[in-house]
Amino acid sequence: MEKLMITGGRPLQGTVSISGAKNSAIALIPAAILAESEVILDNLPLLSDVAVYSEILEELGATVTWEGSQMKIDPSSIKSIPMPNGPVKKLRASYYMMGAMLGRFKEAIIGLPGGCNFEPRPIDQHIKGFEALGATVTNEHGAIHLHAKELHGTKIYLDVSSVGATINIMLAAARAKGATIIENAAKEPEIIDVATLLNSMGAIIKGAGTETIRIEGVSELHGCRHSIIPDRIQAGTYMIAAAATRGNVLIDNVIPKHMEALTAKMQEMGIGIEEYDESIRVLGTPSYEHVDVKALIYPGFATDLQSPMTSLLTQAQGVSVLSDFVYSNRFKHVPELVRMGAKIRVEGRSAIIEGGRLNAAKVKAADLRAGAALVIAGLTVSEGVTEVTGVEYIDRGYDNLVSNLRLLGADVWRQTE
Ligand code: EPU
Repeated sequence: MEKLMITGGRPLQGTVSISGAKNSAIALIPAAILAESEVILDNLPLLSDVAVYSEILEELGATVTWEGSQMKIDPSSIKSIPMPNGPVKKLRASYYMMGAMLGRFKEAIIGLPGGCNFEPRPIDQHIKGFEALGATVTNEHGAIHLHAKELHGTKIYLDVSSVGATINIMLAAARAKGATIIENAAKEPEIIDVATLLNSMGAIIKGAGTETIRIEGVSELHGCRHSIIPDRIQAGTYMIAAAATRGNVLIDNVIPKHMEALTAKMQEMGIGIEEYDESIRVLGTPSYEHVDVKALIYPGFATDLQSPMTSLLTQAQGVSVLSDFVYSNRFKHVPELVRMGAKIRVEGRSAIIEGGRLNAAKVKAADLRAGAALVIAGLTVSEGVTEVTGVEYIDRGYDNLVSNLRLLGADVWRQTE
């Protein structure tokens, strides 16, 4: 078992470069299934979820070449075979196989997704979309069976602005007959990234990034080359870590517009922020104001930064209230932070955080962003060694975390027991 060991108390200093977005990558790779020729993805993050996805495509018969941050996917020999088990079970985002396979083959048998289960995460809106497009969807012994004689365009109103459902419906509708309109669509930057790839493949998608997306179905899509947008959650995590350690860090290869909800909150706390075209500098100060934060759908404060933000707010003076309106109970990091001496209580959808010093402890990451929160907390503690287990979750979303933090001057290392 691997764990992260952290001796904190050192202000992070220097520059960190952000890789491509995980939540884009794991939608763009299955999107390549819809093409008839090679798709090249640049700026790919080196993450375990990406490796699992390349395994899934290879199992289906695609040729995948992955060198550094570039992946070449030749989907021309892909076959429609059932995938009830195996790698699809390891991955939350394996649900994108449903939309992609349905779009290309009008059928799919896929196991229910795995991944970070910090609370029940239904996929009813995905299914509602597939059915509206003309597919029959059944759940047989834990695998979803999808089948359509023909997919036809239609109007779909999402009950919740789901990122996954919006992308999944775009994937299937890209090769449906006629026009599909998604209303109350999610507006996250990753949705624009997927629409950009699909349009480069010959799809006709308009309105991605707004609440109404129109997809004009086409009969065939072709290969293309696409560069993935920077990972705004990884960027936000380093921004928060820089501030929590009272450091001075330039976060490079970011789109500052994607970070607005976080930068506004950090400025409200009294943290120095300098914005450039493709980078943001975070300048820590000796004391921070408490703030209230509401995690909402984009362009609101990202739920994926809610856990790391909890750790930063333990460093503020006074009481902060952090509420999550995307997930009702994403607080698995809280009991672990309490083990480190944090004064936090959870009431419904909110964590009430009283600022104060933390101490080193042995803690466990129960999901990806909870892991990031614990690493940030450990970086603030100068006495003793904080041990974080559950590293496999952290590896799902942060490539080169240890080497990046070490380059910024942190005393962090991996230890295998
Ligand atoms: N929801 C439904 N029904 C559905 C789909 C979603 O009720 O059919 C609810 C969910 O339970 C949740 C809300 O809608 O309360 C939002 O879920 P969404 O579908 O938008 O989330 P997702 O697509 O499953 C992606 C990211 C998550 C991120 C969310 C919200 C991927 C693979 N995952 O999940 O990322 O938290 O959007 O921004 O893209 C992470 O990176 O740590 C992570 C969990």
